[in-house]
Amino acid sequence: MQNTVAQNLPHHVAIVMDGNGRWAQKRWLPRVAGHKQGVDALRRIVEASVQRGIRVLTVFAFSSENWSRPVDEVASLMDLLAVALSREVPRLADSGVRLHFPGDRSRLSPRLAQGLASAEAATQGNERLVLNVCFNYGGRWDMAQAAQRLAERGEAITEESLSAAMAMAHVPDPDLIIRTGGEQRISNFLLWQAAYAELVFSDCLWPEFDAAQLDLALAEYARRERRFGQTSAQRADAAVTADAGTRDA
Ligand code: IPE
Ligand code: IPE
Ligand code: MG
Repeated sequence: MQNTVAQNLPHHVAIVMDGNGRWAQKRWLPRVAGHKQGVDALRRIVEASVQRGIRVLTVFAFSSENWSRPVDEVASLMDLLAVALSREVPRLADSGVRLHFPGDRSRLSPRLAQGLASAEAATQGNERLVLNVCFNYGGRWDMAQAAQRLAERGEAITEESLSAAMAMAHVPDPDLIIRTGGEQRISNFLLWQAAYAELVFSDCLWPEFDAAQLDLALAEYARRERRFGQTSAQRADAAVTADAGTRDA
């Protein structure tokens, strides 16, 4: 199985990190304690992704709709991002991680927005793993802002021009989207980019998600047949031809 996983490793994995609040509530802790544990889980998964050779990891950290949570929870999430930036960025920079923060920064404090821009600048030469932390991100926001940019430039709206104007234009579409926490929905994550992603849902709450859980999702992905609208027979033929090509090369 390990070989199949290695052969069919997704280039780009995206994760809806859900279940922090329930993790905390199960322990009679405040919800913010779950979000703090969630940062630790993210650190583990970044490391595991680098070890496995995944090239792009995208995580959903704060959605356009999360502003409607209680004000103190929203404030804690903003603080947590600021703390995580100052604690984690130097180590991420040293380990070859390139950071991006797709999302609408106009509603963030100028200081936080500046912190995100600095973290992106400090890691822009790195190539081992692209880590996209989607913060104040929504799939609908992304499509609307892309269309708006094209309209302002007077450019035609095509699939290619829209893709190029989106907040995720710097990476290929996700191959695998994992959602933890047991819910089976997309919650306004990468709506456009998810067109042909494989979806894997895990009951594991995000603070408990670890390398072994990631491997389960990767194994599930490796078993899937992606057809992109074609038939199974066409995909098999294409695989044989590609295989012969690599052997002959
Ligand atoms: C995900 O965990 C983190 C954010 C949405 C910021 P939740 O906070 O949604 O956790 P649950 O779903 O309430 O358990
Ligand atoms: C999705 O989780 C957003 C993030 C993980 C950042 P939510 O907990 O906000 O999603 P819903 O409200 O259950 O759909
Ligand atoms: Mg949730």
